[in-house]
Amino acid sequence: MKLLLAPMATVSHEAFRRAVARFGGCDEYYNEMINAPSLLAGGQWEKYYLLAETEPEKLVWQLTGNKAEPMAEAAALLAERDGIGIDLNMGCSAPQIANTGAGVAWMTKPLTETAALVRLVKAALANAAKDGRTEKRLSVKLRLGADDFTDAGFFAFTDMLVAEGVQQLTLHPRTKKEKYRAKPRWEYVERLALRYEGRVPVVLNGDVTDRASFAAAVRAAPHAAGVMIARAAAQKPWIFAEIAKAICADECGAAKLVRGAAVQESAGSGSGQMLTQQQTAADGETPAANVHASIAHGAAVQESAGGGSGQMLTQRQTAADSATPAANAAASTAHTASIAGNGAIQPTVATATPCASFDKPSAREQSPATAAVAPAAPLVIDCQQLALDFIGDVARFQPPEFYKTRLQRFFAYYCDNFSFAHYFKTQMLNAAAHAATPADAIDACKAAVCAYFAQCPEDCLRQLL
Ligand SMILES: Cc1cc2nc3c(=O)[nH]c(=O)nc-3n(C[C@H](O)[C@H](O)[C@H](O)COP(=O)(O)O)c2cc1C
Repeated sequence: MKLLLAPMATVSHEAFRRAVARFGGCDEYYNEMINAPSLLAGGQWEKYYLLAETEPEKLVWQLTGNKAEPMAEAAALLAERDGIGIDLNMGCSAPQIANTGAGVAWMTKPLTETAALVRLVKAALANAAKDGRTEKRLSVKLRLGADDFTDAGFFAFTDMLVAEGVQQLTLHPRTKKEKYRAKPRWEYVERLALRYEGRVPVVLNGDVTDRASFAAAVRAAPHAAGVMIARAAAQKPWIFAEIAKAICADECGAAKLVRGAAVQESAGSGSGQMLTQQQTAADGETPAANVHASIAHGAAVQESAGGGSGQMLTQRQTAADSATPAANAAASTAHTASIAGNGAIQPTVATATPCASFDKPSAREQSPATAAVAPAAPLVIDCQQLALDFIGDVARFQPPEFYKTRLQRFFAYYCDNFSFAHYFKTQMLNAAAHAATPADAIDACKAAVCAYFAQCPEDCLRQLL
């Protein structure tokens, strides 16, 4: 079972991949979509889209466009770069993409037109492989189609993709208009996986946010070759490690998770309340039954945060309100961090285990993927350091013109991890928005991160067991 980072425009870039790679567990990184005509025109931002320093052997380039020829030409250019494959975006339903004939529009064009695109790209990749290069894998990310899609039409479309040589399919099983409202129909992933079993791996995407929803997804589509995660990865760059640890935990993981063993996420010393929430959401079984199952199997997997007990749950429940963390800071003694004169963070935390986010990935240090994540060792995440590292990497790997949007987009998700999510998010959005220059935006965001964790030190450390 592979775990894949989804393509996300403005999120799935080099700086973000570094954040994910610090923890490991991710088998493939899909890059944010690259517009084929812009790539061919050599636009001023393209070099940033093409950065591939973090585990390039796991990188997949996603292309978008509304015409076959430029997409094939762009695929040929990308084929000369590092990376394992080229993905064609046939799933994006954002109006600025779909209304121009790109993204999901490829699913509603005449079948022969889309077939011609795939054939042309496939030929370009085969051609690029002639000079001794390994041929890049061709994949497609798709939805179910238009709102009035039929099963016959959908499978005729995917049959065409497979017949034209597409080598991996990722299905986000919603229609064009469903956005995130409707529940993803994971059963279509299973039907696809069975249809092409032994020929084309099929990856599930949609609404996998933690171990419990991963388990539910795998139960719904046991023949899926992988699970791709988007929004939850932006919120928790460690989610791949979190899930991979569960998979490895009893060599199973999938087997035990699939059978419905409990997945436990607890805050601090573990009140079990969060467990109840997750289980209810994931599989509709009664929490009590799952707790029993967990005890019986001895299979509970815990995520604990900081040193607080059940407080975090209570805080999270009220996080959307306008509370500020001041009172909380006064009460907390679990963790403190100070900012030295030079701006460096000096965490004064007693941790038994080194923080994963302190370790920078290098070309030689490959992050472990699913199979290599150590199930036994707890993973300690320093959320402040992770945020600061990310901001620093944005400054290193993005053009100044992008700083504001990249920071705002990431922190819109990341802040949801914390007790006073709404407050933190507002601080971060304002810090980026009101900065006079891009460099100021970087500094202001770093300062806002430090200020938040100084006020809420118990939010800083998170431990995945
Ligand atoms: C900010 C953002 C940007 C996205 N950009 C892309 C993209 O460039 N290409 C694409 O195929 N899908 C894109 N998507 C869709 C995701 O890849 C994914 O299919 C969708 O969010 C469902 O997965 P999730 O439930 O894990 O978030 C984007 C989603 C988000 C939230």
